Amino acid sequence: MTDSSQTDQAFFQFDSNRALLSTNLPFPKRSGKVRDVYDLGNSLMIVSTDRISAFDYILPSGIPEKGRLLTGMSEYWFQLLGVRHHLISTAIPPSFESQFDIEPLRGRVMFTEKASVVPFECVVRGYLEGSGLREYQATGEICGNRLPEQLVQCDKLPDPIFTPATKAEEGHDENVSLDRMIQDLGPNLAEKLKSLSLRIYQTACDHASSRGILIADTKFEFGIVDEEVVLIDEVLTPDSSRFWSAEQYQPGQAQRSFDKQFVREWLSQCGWDMNSDPPELPDEIIEQTAAKYREAFERLAGS
Ligand SMILES: Nc1ncnc2c1ncn2[C@@H]1O[C@H](COP(=O)(O)OP(=O)(O)OP(=O)(O)O)[C@@H](O)[C@H]1O
Ligand SMILES: [Mg+2]
Repeated sequence: MTDSSQTDQAFFQFDSNRALLSTNLPFPKRSGKVRDVYDLGNSLMIVSTDRISAFDYILPSGIPEKGRLLTGMSEYWFQLLGVRHHLISTAIPPSFESQFDIEPLRGRVMFTEKASVVPFECVVRGYLEGSGLREYQATGEICGNRLPEQLVQCDKLPDPIFTPATKAEEGHDENVSLDRMIQDLGPNLAEKLKSLSLRIYQTACDHASSRGILIADTKFEFGIVDEEVVLIDEVLTPDSSRFWSAEQYQPGQAQRSFDKQFVREWLSQCGWDMNSDPPELPDEIIEQTAAKYREAFERLAGS
């Protein structure tokens, strides 16, 4: 293939399935597991690559078009939720065209307001799974929310609960109580983030349930711009949420994850020790996973 020149290859790196693995654009960059975030001075450019992580590792194979589906989903939700958010535009400035091939960025990029990030992950849970389940099994509560006895894995909670976590620089985020958040942020901001998070979750659940999807839990991030609270980061994507199929939902056991199930199952039985560089995924696992991301997008956003 000769569609990328030498220079383009330096700006964008693809794998053999044309999944975008990394970007290297001429602006200050920091990379998360999935996204490359560029500081443009007054705004940020957040590029969702096609990288996928599982068991806390970035896999060497990407999922073609995943970045576009996740960006499209965040954009869809930002428009639907009716709260102040950081997204300015997904249109690529004409000035970029003279600098590099903009095609790989199309649909993968969000230009956003630059916020001062609130250092808590605002998690809302409607169902019992993951770190919430583990905390409940050990203590009967999650982040200070007392729950009924005898709930089973993946049970629906009587009401959605707010279970904030600190944003750990390294390793796993730590669940904390609302009181801890109040100590750090003050009661006004902490209570506001709680009620906003619960309200957004409810709006999203109502929408998703009409499309046959349960949002078991999700993580929001907020920032402050001009002294106002702004919803930032990605929102209500399969990477920040647990989506389950409503049809197949069955409490008392783990649910099939909407998106990463094939990847996790294959990685668990391929002989990888989960403690070293992960292996490349077989093509059929990549294709099945890409189809799941497409399905999530199409079911939620409708096209
Ligand atoms: N509007 C914004 N203003 C400032 N920072 C933002 C804004 N939106 C998102 N961010 C920050 O940009 C980063 C997005 O990067 P990303 O989520 O890919 O990496 P990460 O959180 O460091 O790692 P991980 O891959 O584990 O999530 C986060 O640190 C997030 O808090
Ligand atoms: Mg993140």
